[in-house]
Amino acid sequence: MSDTSRTLTIRRPDDWHVHLRDGAMLQAVVDHTARQFARAIVMPNLKPPITSVDQARSYRERILQALRPERRDRFTPLMTAYLTETIAAQELERGFTEKVFTAAKLYPAGATTNSDAGVRDLKAITPVLETMERIGMPLLIHGEVTDPGIDIFDREAVFIEQHLEPLLRRHPALKVVLEHITTADAADFVTSGPANLAATITPHHLHINRNAMFLGGLRPDFYCLPVAKRERHRLALRAAATSGNPKFFLGTDSAPHPRGAKESACGCAGIYNAPYAIESYAQVFEQEGALERLEGFASVFGPRFYGLPLNKGSITLIRDGSEVPALMELSAGADSTTLLVPFHAGEDLNWRLEDSPAS
Ligand code: NCD
Ligand code: ZN
Repeated sequence: MSDTSRTLTIRRPDDWHVHLRDGAMLQAVVDHTARQFARAIVMPNLKPPITSVDQARSYRERILQALRPERRDRFTPLMTAYLTETIAAQELERGFTEKVFTAAKLYPAGATTNSDAGVRDLKAITPVLETMERIGMPLLIHGEVTDPGIDIFDREAVFIEQHLEPLLRRHPALKVVLEHITTADAADFVTSGPANLAATITPHHLHINRNAMFLGGLRPDFYCLPVAKRERHRLALRAAATSGNPKFFLGTDSAPHPRGAKESACGCAGIYNAPYAIESYAQVFEQEGALERLEGFASVFGPRFYGLPLNKGSITLIRDGSEVPALMELSAGADSTTLLVPFHAGEDLNWRLEDSPAS
């Protein structure tokens, strides 16, 4: 890394958790991710979900086709399988061996967007988890209980205690990534856990606490799952992300929903942070006096955990700022557009990614 205060050059980063969607939305958003990241772990919560090797192969092809042509051999989508209670262990193993699936995602049924086909009873997928443990295929977890009797702000901590801890005991060699952690409880659990347990951290959970959703009125653009928590949790996440501990790495959880679906009587969960993701993280690391640790978090710890090579190229951030638009009208195929409110809408960020137009 070179840091001459006005510029910061780091190895090209990867995004270890992103929602790219499909069809027109995929077309609208994919280049925002590809302009910064060399690889991205693509979440499988489409409708219908990605549960087979064939589906993942053709989704991967659609992603590549949606990219600007010059980015097609520079960006690699890493595909994930959506775990259902009926998915066959052999299908996962074949997908992993054929390098179609990089990992599998566990959604507790009902926990979040398009999770209805997810898992109700973890014991139902024991053979699947045993196979993954044997072949070294990472399990990516949306770590929230779904019991409506549990307060929404407690659902991550309760999941860790009731489900994650026992799961790790049953499968001691399984590689597990606790996705988009939001609490001090999760940061502590991961820190003190075994080396095969890691976590991703989003930019939004580093910037906002739960007050953001209620600032002067109801602000659906700050609503995502797991929901942002109290300030003390945000501070614990900032400490974890900037600590240099390789168990914590970058995963944006960028989750686009059209403006109308967010700003409605029952708004969707998800924050669209892809357009300025690396700038957003850089700001946090700068504020914490830890810019020299950005590269580890963004570009080194993720591939090491997954057992993948580090990227060869680099990116340069310039400290002359980015003006984030209040609203983005993005081209979504032939003659349609979609309106998305980006994270940091209307704000100025300190950093700008050099020479890399978003669209
Ligand atoms: C994600 C989505 O919209 O697909 N939403 C979100 O709030 N993060 C799903 C998820 O990761 O929970
Ligand atoms: Zn997600």
